[in-house]
Amino acid sequence: MKHGSMVLGTAAALALGGMAVSAVAQTAADAAGRAKAVADFPGDADGAFQSAARFGEPDGEKMYRRVCAGCHMPDGKGAQGAGHYPALARNQNIASGDYAVYVVVKGMHGMPGVGRMMNDEQVASVVNYVRTSFGNKYRDKVTAKQVSAVR
Ligand code: HEC
Repeated sequence: MKHGSMVLGTAAALALGGMAVSAVAQTAADAAGRAKAVADFPGDADGAFQSAARFGEPDGEKMYRRVCAGCHMPDGKGAQGAGHYPALARNQNIASGDYAVYVVVKGMHGMPGVGRMMNDEQVASVVNYVRTSFGNKYRDKVTAKQVSAVR
């Protein structure tokens, strides 16, 4: 009897240990995924630029999916895990178009200045996309001129 409960106890400890290990593995995978998103983004962004060029105009939505969604998520709701990726959905900070342009061009803490790899029109169009998507209704468009003033 004594022996049996020890076995059970060990099994429970192993099961708990397993859960802890998989939680850690999950977090590590999450972190690795984000690190990869950062490492991949120049290549990925190239793809976005090429397809934007192919369509003859900067496509804010496409750019968002290629460049921003890896961190801010396709639905703009952000992510909480190995890091904090703020939601862009219903985000009052981006009521200021200048602020959004600034963050995209210059970056901020955990966010690289991805806009450095885009031309002014592309930055304007991805910012305009975000400011009119995901529940945001800021219809005053930012212009390529505003972007070039921030650079
Ligand atoms: C590598 C991950 C990553 C990518 C790619 C990325 N962001 Fe971010 N972004 C962040 C992080 C992290 C923050 C928060 C920075 C902070 O608060 O210090 C942030 C903050 C922001 C903010 C400010 C939000 C606020 O509430 O003040 C905006 C706007 C923004 N990002 C837009 C974009 C857009 C548009 C793109 C694509 C062109 C993009 N981001 C690509 C990680 C990323």
